[in-house]
Amino acid sequence: MSFNLEEIISKYRKFEIRSPYPIYVLFVFILCYWWRSTKLKNPSGLPVIGRRWYELGNGKARQRIRDDCLGIVRSCLAKYGDAFYLYTDSRYRLILSGKYVDMLRNEKRLDFITALADKLVNGVHGFEPMLSMTSDEKILHAVTKHSLNRHLGTFVEPLNEESDYTVRQVWTDEPEYHEVMLKDSVWKMFGQIMSRTFINDEDFYRNPEWVNASSEYVELSALAGYELRAFPRWAKRWVAPFLPNCRKLQSLFKHINTLLEPLKEKLEGKNLEIDSKSPLSFLHQKLDGQPDALASMLIALCLVSYDGGGELFTHVLHSVFTNDQLICDLRSEIVNVVGDKGFNKNTLQGLILMDSVLKEAMRMHPESVLLMQRIALEEVVLPDGLIIPKGTPLLVSGCHIIDDTIWPDGDKFDGYRFFNLRQKADSSINQAAYNFTSTSPDHFGFGHGSQACPGRFFASYMQKILLCHVLMKYDISVTIPKEGAWFQRGYTHVAHPGLKAQVRRRKEEIIL
Ligand code: HEM
Repeated sequence: MSFNLEEIISKYRKFEIRSPYPIYVLFVFILCYWWRSTKLKNPSGLPVIGRRWYELGNGKARQRIRDDCLGIVRSCLAKYGDAFYLYTDSRYRLILSGKYVDMLRNEKRLDFITALADKLVNGVHGFEPMLSMTSDEKILHAVTKHSLNRHLGTFVEPLNEESDYTVRQVWTDEPEYHEVMLKDSVWKMFGQIMSRTFINDEDFYRNPEWVNASSEYVELSALAGYELRAFPRWAKRWVAPFLPNCRKLQSLFKHINTLLEPLKEKLEGKNLEIDSKSPLSFLHQKLDGQPDALASMLIALCLVSYDGGGELFTHVLHSVFTNDQLICDLRSEIVNVVGDKGFNKNTLQGLILMDSVLKEAMRMHPESVLLMQRIALEEVVLPDGLIIPKGTPLLVSGCHIIDDTIWPDGDKFDGYRFFNLRQKADSSINQAAYNFTSTSPDHFGFGHGSQACPGRFFASYMQKILLCHVLMKYDISVTIPKEGAWFQRGYTHVAHPGLKAQVRRRKEEIIL
């Protein structure tokens, strides 16, 4: 049979829709799509804020949240009260006010990991670490609780050594002021320190290729994930190959796998005893029979630990290094407390002003203005009668943490805030409530209750040791971009990558 293109084209030229039925079908299809996307289980009859009645699809509602999530949440809390549904980046979520933090704290039927998986796992190549992060086996949990938390003391010396090494690498010993990009520097430092913590194998943890690739992954995955969240679940796989950041992420993850191949071979050959003091050996044993998951798990550990940690440390630097008195007081605290004793559990606990600075930076700059993400595994009725149907995704507003509803002058950074509260508190008050690692309904940057961040104790050690090195060894003058030190990306609070600093090596008063 011969193939005649001309004939086929002329046939289609003559094609015209004679019957109105296809138009009707299309209309019914659009109506069904519209109806499905507004369908919401709402047994408590809460206000629903998102798409306006005349809008087709959720694109505009999504854009509004992307442009001004904080403003929208604040105005909805004022207008509708403590609970409402809001269309966030890809679906309607139940938003609760801070009033609910304590009611949710130990509610296991409202699950964090399921919510994280719902947000991050997308089946797209390159995003495999998100799957590891949210696996049912809770391997990251186990590494954090059994390896890091149980042996915190054994990490002090490696953290000290690596902080010393990385600040010199990134900011050099140059005694003249030179310009650096603040966030980029912090990312490099965190990459190095976490590499030492999690891998602690000399052939690898100082390999700049792995260190750079892992920190690049953390940054790029946040951006690529954010772009993908604009698409419905079924479409993500199809659009990903056309998004440059997704393509970059995919090849970066392939590169990371290749880089870690010799480490896997070494581990396989070693027949390791389980040593819970070493996160790598602990992880390797837990992954018995799935060595290919090693790269994915290591990156997942980087994601949970220095995505939040690196952001926080950047905020600490721009907040501290714009206040000469605070710099001076922090330096004398380090000299007095750490002095010639060096770092240990007691001296780290004794850095009370520094603890206050970290807590205040986290108060003003939580990872997100909507925290405690959860999904209801079954229907939950809260003590005040609010019904949360099975499958409902929810978030709790942290607006009251960052403004002056609870904290006087709460929209201003005050590094002495928790230090002063501790000094003023009478003996009946538990002073531990002011610790950086303590959580409460008025300060839940680490979450609150049974699902709160288990890595916060390690994070506290790491932030303090690194900050001591930075304060003792460098003079820093920070330049804040004209748009401000941070911005909102949807509901995520992001330290501005354009933050710059002039840094120069100074002579430290004590050897750390
Ligand atoms: C300053 C640094 C950090 C910040 C700001 C942070 C923040 C958080 C937050 C907000 C949560 C969710 C809690 C909730 O919704 O109730 C979380 C969970 C978690 N974090 Fe962290 N984190 C930090 C450091 C770390 C480190 C160093 C590790 C371990 C290496 C870690 C491991 C985890 C794990 C495993 C979870 C999941 C908890 C669960 O499933 O119940 N985090 N973190």
